[in-house]
Amino acid sequence: MSLPQPAAEGRSRGAVDLSIARETAGREEEVGLAPNPRGLGPTGRPRRHIPEPPLLDRHGPASVLAMCNQKGGVGKTTSTINLGAALAEYGRRVLLVDFDPQGALSVGLGVQPHQLDQTIYNVIMERPVAIHDVVRQTTVEGMDLLPSNIDLSAAEVQLVAEVGREQTLHRVLQPALAEYDYVLVDCQPSLGLLTVNALAAADAVIIPLECEFFSLRGVALLIDTIEKVRERLNPRLEISGILATMFDPRTLHSREVMARVVEAFGDIVFDAVINRTVRFPETTVAGEPITRWAPRSAGAQAYRALAREVIAR
Ligand SMILES: Nc1ncnc2c1ncn2[C@@H]1O[C@H](COP(=O)(O)OP(=O)(O)OP(=O)(O)O)[C@@H](O)[C@H]1O
Ligand SMILES: [Mg+2]
Repeated sequence: MSLPQPAAEGRSRGAVDLSIARETAGREEEVGLAPNPRGLGPTGRPRRHIPEPPLLDRHGPASVLAMCNQKGGVGKTTSTINLGAALAEYGRRVLLVDFDPQGALSVGLGVQPHQLDQTIYNVIMERPVAIHDVVRQTTVEGMDLLPSNIDLSAAEVQLVAEVGREQTLHRVLQPALAEYDYVLVDCQPSLGLLTVNALAAADAVIIPLECEFFSLRGVALLIDTIEKVRERLNPRLEISGILATMFDPRTLHSREVMARVVEAFGDIVFDAVINRTVRFPETTVAGEPITRWAPRSAGAQAYRALAREVIAR
């Protein structure tokens, strides 16, 4: 399938001038594009053939994917925005759920969380508020957002006293599932009640994993939590895959961590690997996904490759 025509590179809706960052950025990304002499992908494995996604003539019911890792700053929010935008380019209808009181997903899509009257907090805590009252369109066609702000931090406390407290997100998402192909839930960096709600609502988990030595430590605890949720709350729950992020192909350290990750987790590691590049922090300031901010960049291509794998899995 042919992709929509890429927009002009580096458009910014904000007042911030990013031209200097744009000129200096991106050169390191080319390294990730250089053909590997042995025909292996960045994971060190031969690249698997991933077919072009078929076109859809109707939508839904959605697969719910939780983007989850209790370690902070590993690329959960960045991956939610950019995987979502890449899925939307392939004609999928996507709902992004900001399930972190920091509201970084909302900010990354140009929404000012403190100015919102209603957020996901109202949907999960106030019965008359329906999901459709709060969902808003984004600048990406086919991709909607259920925003969040700091109010959501109160939900974590208030939910403790509720009946069915772990199933709250699952319950409120139901009326929207028929319209979407994918619902991506951006989790906060903790394994608390909000994250358990995301896992209870999900069909599968994507685990973004920073290519740093200490990143591996928390994953066993995360997988243990996923297994408990599967046993006790949500028998559907699977691990969709582990996404290596912030990979620097020039450093031995990054390559060693990658080798350990592939050795430990095998086939569930996505072939798509996200390189470390300043282009991602830039997109946050611009309030746009990389597929629009820099459509031809290696980062945009990597998230498109991830989208193809997610559709194929
Ligand atoms: N591939 C990348 N290369 C360089 N910087 C990146 C990359 N991915 C994300 N970043 C930057 O790293 C920071 C953390 O990323 P992000 O917010 O996506 O992580 P997170 O896991 O959602 O964090 P938190 O746990 O705080 O929610 C951000 O400033 C983001 O712009
Ligand atoms: Mg985040």
